[in-house]
Amino acid sequence: MNLSKKLLIILAASAFSSVAFAGDCDITVGGNDAMQFDTKEIVLKKSCAEVTITLKHTGKLPKSAMGHNIVISEEANMNAIVEAGIKAGLAKEYLPSDKSKVLAYTKIIGGGESTSVKVKTASLAGKKKLMFYCTFPGHFALMKGTVVLK
Ligand code: CO
Repeated sequence: MNLSKKLLIILAASAFSSVAFAGDCDITVGGNDAMQFDTKEIVLKKSCAEVTITLKHTGKLPKSAMGHNIVISEEANMNAIVEAGIKAGLAKEYLPSDKSKVLAYTKIIGGGESTSVKVKTASLAGKKKLMFYCTFPGHFALMKGTVVLK
């Protein structure tokens, strides 16, 4: 097979994969009563202008005991956001009042609930290493992962 033919196949394959699943622009992340997300990586496709990330709390505990949210920021800002969020408390969704470093966030939910946030992929382009995590006090140790723009 010559090079141009190979390229054609690769192009065709990538064009197909970008339109194959409309659901690519909708991502669901689960959180449970064991203080865990069901994934360590959220992949956002650049082919989606906007991705809807839905957080589904599959547990039974109330948000006061086992609240979860999804917050996205650069890794470098993660600790400061978590600390400010803990000080802010549940009434403020465990989020800092200054959200300039928060790139996306959901509210805090409890067992059986779900919530979602829309993320414009262009707003994340050029950012340094991105992380998603839960800002409920103590959860961030286990409840975090990387956000990858592909
Ligand atoms: Co949590």
